[in-house]
Amino acid sequence: MTKTLMTDKRWAAKYPWLGTGPVATESCISPDYFERERTLIFRRSWLNVGRVDEIPERGQYFVRELAVCHTSILIMRGKDGKIRGFHNVCAHRGNRLVPHERGQCPGKLMCNFHFWTFDTEGKLSWVPDEENFHGLDKSKLGLTPVRTDIWEGFIFVNLDDAGTESLEDYLDGVGKQLNGAPFGKLSRLRTFKVDERANWKVAIDAQNEIYHLPFQHRFTFPDAFVLKDNRYTRLFDVNLYKRHSVWSCEYNPDYKVSPLGALLGRLDRLKDPPRFTQMIGDFDFFLVFPNMVILLFKGAAWDFVVTYNFWPLAVDHTIWEIRYYYPPADNAGTRLNQEYGLCRLRDTLQEDAKAHEAIHAGLRSRAKRELQLQDDEICIRYFHKVVDDHAGLLEAAE
Ligand code: FES
Ligand SMILES: [Fe+2]
Repeated sequence: MTKTLMTDKRWAAKYPWLGTGPVATESCISPDYFERERTLIFRRSWLNVGRVDEIPERGQYFVRELAVCHTSILIMRGKDGKIRGFHNVCAHRGNRLVPHERGQCPGKLMCNFHFWTFDTEGKLSWVPDEENFHGLDKSKLGLTPVRTDIWEGFIFVNLDDAGTESLEDYLDGVGKQLNGAPFGKLSRLRTFKVDERANWKVAIDAQNEIYHLPFQHRFTFPDAFVLKDNRYTRLFDVNLYKRHSVWSCEYNPDYKVSPLGALLGRLDRLKDPPRFTQMIGDFDFFLVFPNMVILLFKGAAWDFVVTYNFWPLAVDHTIWEIRYYYPPADNAGTRLNQEYGLCRLRDTLQEDAKAHEAIHAGLRSRAKRELQLQDDEICIRYFHKVVDDHAGLLEAAE
């Protein structure tokens, strides 16, 4: 790949229909708007809730609390090996069926309140003192299913029972670009959950550009992506899909790793390192609308993936879930190198987390009511347009 020749304002030229004006911030602080997003975005979109490798064995399950949709979802691999999603709600009197985060059942899940029991396909299999009910039809009282589908090992659910769009159609260009990528060759090394007093879009916006890297991250990642001929960063490519977006950038060819990083790089001897040939640049940032990000990094020894899921709890409260996927280390040098890389990235993201809350507080003051966006912040502009295109339909939808 050759280093990109930068021209000015080429993203506005590529996507002129997006315009170049400021973007209003009221949607990030308005409780009414958040209620629209809850109904018209989160309850109607395909949402990534986990990966198949979290439940590799039959009978294994995990629970995903979807506060933004006012529900709790149970994802379970059945005795038949199939992964299904259900509302985590007992058919008797609505108790939360599984109260913990994950587990493995021997073929049955039992509600703790009166011991109504469901099999791994969600069917109601046993009711204590069944004779004392009035014409109970167990065949109609299974767990309520949720539309569930899988793409490249990522499990998605869609709470819109009336929806007809398949996950494949929904993923659109993201799916086309990344189909066949070797996600299955990586394993999850760590998960961090950051509890933030910030709107979910504020948090996404602060990640959805690379302009801030040489400044906010001047101590942690000062020059990994800066241009050779100036100290700024510019994107290598931008692609906008039906709802999603991706921006890509290239490494600074003059970037010097630290002495410790160089030493660990030499010790890293992974056999058969995974390579993501589907990548566009050296660092790709796929925003899968509404709240998932897939970050692909080209590494010297191996490529790796980080995912974000931003889970809104309220208009000003979000859980930022960060998952690191690395190739399984088959030697100590690779393991050490991975821990070093993970720590550096974690330090960088801590700087971001602080910024998310500070930005939200600033917007909440209404001292400024618009975002001023430069050309390389175009994916922020597009994200707000897609949100508005969905949530702005409230009047028509009601
Ligand atoms: S509410 Fe679940 S068994 Fe009664
Ligand atoms: Fe950042």
